[in-house]
Amino acid sequence: MTTASPASATAQYDYDQQDASGATCTAHAWAKVPAPLTPVQRRELKARAAELLRARGAVLVAHYYVDGDLQDLAVETGGCVSDSLEMARFGRDHSAQTLVVAGVRFMGESAKILSPAKRVLMPDLDATCSLDLGCPSDAFNAFCDAHPDRTVVVYANTSAAVKARADWMVTSSCALPIVRHLHAQGRKILWAPDRHLGGYIQRETGADMLMWNGACIVHDEFKGLELELLRREHPKAKILVHPESPQQVVEQADVVGSTAQLLKAVIELDAREFIVATDNGMFHRMRQAAPGKVLIEAPTAGNGATCKSCAHCPWMAMNALQGVIDCLAQGQGEILVDEPIRSRAEGCIRRMLDFVAAQPAAAIAQPMATGMGAA
Ligand code: 13P
Ligand code: SF4
Repeated sequence: MTTASPASATAQYDYDQQDASGATCTAHAWAKVPAPLTPVQRRELKARAAELLRARGAVLVAHYYVDGDLQDLAVETGGCVSDSLEMARFGRDHSAQTLVVAGVRFMGESAKILSPAKRVLMPDLDATCSLDLGCPSDAFNAFCDAHPDRTVVVYANTSAAVKARADWMVTSSCALPIVRHLHAQGRKILWAPDRHLGGYIQRETGADMLMWNGACIVHDEFKGLELELLRREHPKAKILVHPESPQQVVEQADVVGSTAQLLKAVIELDAREFIVATDNGMFHRMRQAAPGKVLIEAPTAGNGATCKSCAHCPWMAMNALQGVIDCLAQGQGEILVDEPIRSRAEGCIRRMLDFVAAQPAAAIAQPMATGMGAA
């Protein structure tokens, strides 16, 4: 049943080149990242954004990778900071009729798909994701057409149009139990788009998975050899790895998990030092939640390094306090999803949320151990 080397579809994109609209390359994204603010400016913008959230009856739903001030604003105003699974659940369940989603576009789209009657705003609609960009719906539909015998499982980091074709959506926090469940039913899987997360799930479950060949530009750059060298300098450190990272990095992990699961590991594990292989925006919340612990960035340098991201997602970095103010004050940055696509995409997200709701809480909240763990 296991495919030792799964067949794959390849979609290579050069994120240094602008697309036709000029909107999607990393250079464009970095150019839109706002300059650092003075403490006074930060305080004033935060107060203005909080006032607008209150006045518009809106709630801020933020990802752990966005600017620390935005994360703090979300917490202080009754919103949430979380991984992509919890962002989807929180937005669906909250009574506010306006959701401001600070993250990347697929997160705003998931919120709109689950809550079509709500207004979903984003600080910058150009904030996208290399996984989403690397899986265009036309090519993906052709891939699915060629393999009608397979259950289509897509990662959350995809467009609404790609989700509309899927049977299941998963996030990094629940991909493993969901694929294990499908494998136990004897299903063969078509997986898209992240080759590293897909490879990790395939190795852990032994499922038959046909893979799309996408990657996250941030996690793809973590380096196995350099991580080995860094571990020698910090022999007591626990290694925490997001599963979008390459196999050589995942194989050295004590814990593999979603952003929320990695945060939980920093808080709960009995260790002082942690080497963390995920976007360094995550460190803001980790430092707040576990102030006495030493957090070290996993290396992105070394042989073959291109450092398009240097462990920070340019599209996440585009989210700013000023963007929150502008979208609330001027109504710009609204997420709209065509109804036929929305209603088809809703099915695969609901299937995931129903599956998660039926699990014992620990099955999803728990970080995954690799079983290979660092020595
Ligand atoms: P999480 O669901 O783990 O927060 O991951 C989202 C993401 O985009 C990571 O790069
Ligand atoms: Fe996409 Fe990677 Fe950015 Fe996450 S960190 S949004 S997977 S490009």
